[in-house]
Amino acid sequence: MKEPIKNRQTKKYSKGTIVTHWLTALLILILYPMGKYMEELKVSEKMGLIKIHALVGILVLILTIMRTIYYFKHERPAEIETGSKINNKLVIWVHNAFYDLLLGIAITGIATMVIGGYAEAIKTEDINQIRAASQIPALKAHGIMATIMMLLLIMHIIGFIKHLLLKKENTLKRII
Ligand code: HEM
Repeated sequence: MKEPIKNRQTKKYSKGTIVTHWLTALLILILYPMGKYMEELKVSEKMGLIKIHALVGILVLILTIMRTIYYFKHERPAEIETGSKINNKLVIWVHNAFYDLLLGIAITGIATMVIGGYAEAIKTEDINQIRAASQIPALKAHGIMATIMMLLLIMHIIGFIKHLLLKKENTLKRII
């Protein structure tokens, strides 16, 4: 027989975790389509956008580091009890994967700036410093990790809706 669900809805994440969580979510939803849009442009057309993308991306990196610190330093609500052992593990796995992917995306983004010649092009104002996308493995990894993260984001939202509908628990209350 399945055990009844009894998550404590009164216990919340810390203020810092809540603010960094929602800011990161908002910025990711801007950065991903922006990255995909830039992919289609000629180098001469996208230098301004790349600067903004890199600066906002570094802000996401800083927010992720802050969120990791808040996560370990502050008391937090217990992991969600879903009523299924596999789903309980999946919830933790998806949450951890977000941190790993965000760090990976930021590192490969910075590597693309340096190895791909973007940083040099910005410094010298010479777009010829930028290598072809096919010659920048870090950019390939950056794009793949960003897409995996967007898929996880969809799973994260589906998980919330499923829990709300089936278990009648609004887990959003823990993070608002
Ligand atoms: C959560 C944060 C980020 C997301 C979601 C994101 C997303 C993306 C996506 C989807 C692309 C297109 C990749 C492709 O070719 O398939 C891209 C390109 C790129 N990103 Fe990011 N990015 C993030 C952070 C960063 C950071 C921190 C930097 C550097 C400091 C950066 C630098 C770049 C550069 C240089 C490109 C290549 C642009 C081009 O030539 O078209 N990104 N990003």
